[in-house]
Amino acid sequence: MTPDALAALHARCFRNPRPWTAEEFAGLLDTRGTFLLEAPQGFLMGRAIAGEAELLTVAVEPQARRAGTGRTLIAAFAGRAASMGAEEAFLEVADDNLAARGLYSATGWLESGVRRRYYGPATDAIVMRLTLRATQEGG
Ligand SMILES: CC(C)(COP(=O)(O)OP(=O)(O)OC[C@H]1O[C@@H](n2cnc3c(N)ncnc32)[C@H](O)[C@@H]1OP(=O)(O)O)[C@@H](O)C(=O)NCCC(=O)NCCS
Repeated sequence: MTPDALAALHARCFRNPRPWTAEEFAGLLDTRGTFLLEAPQGFLMGRAIAGEAELLTVAVEPQARRAGTGRTLIAAFAGRAASMGAEEAFLEVADDNLAARGLYSATGWLESGVRRRYYGPATDAIVMRLTLRATQEGG
């Protein structure tokens, strides 16, 4: 997918946090350790540096949800991050994003903290962590 296509899909999936522009995607793709995983109806961007990985964003077309794409992308993220030497991954998710929180819980992520008002006055960020070795051993 091109940065334009990534930004267009991101805009169909996000309001808060605001969607990222094509320029922001292009810049991220040029950043060391950052990788893009694509699925027919979605994508995930992650980063792995110095033994730790971050899930930067994941987006699935609205009409293609609840068909396992998110789960497939998370599994690919865990595999890629581990192959790049990361032992643990983290992410931030808006506390009112129940679909994403459901996806992360279903794929082994554990809540490890809260960043108050991270996404605006009414929305906290939940910090979640995934142990990559355990994920791989557990299949
Ligand atoms: C979050 C998102 C990526 C999930 O993608 P998806 O392809 O629909 O996810 P999957 O079909 O693989 O779902 C896997 C599991 O996650 C959980 N889940 C997914 N959507 C859910 C929802 N709306 N409510 C509750 N649980 C949900 C379920 O446990 C689901 O398993 P099940 O369908 O067997 O019950 C998608 O909803 C999305 O793009 N949302 C907008 C962007 C976004 O919020 N990204 C995350 C930002 S941090």
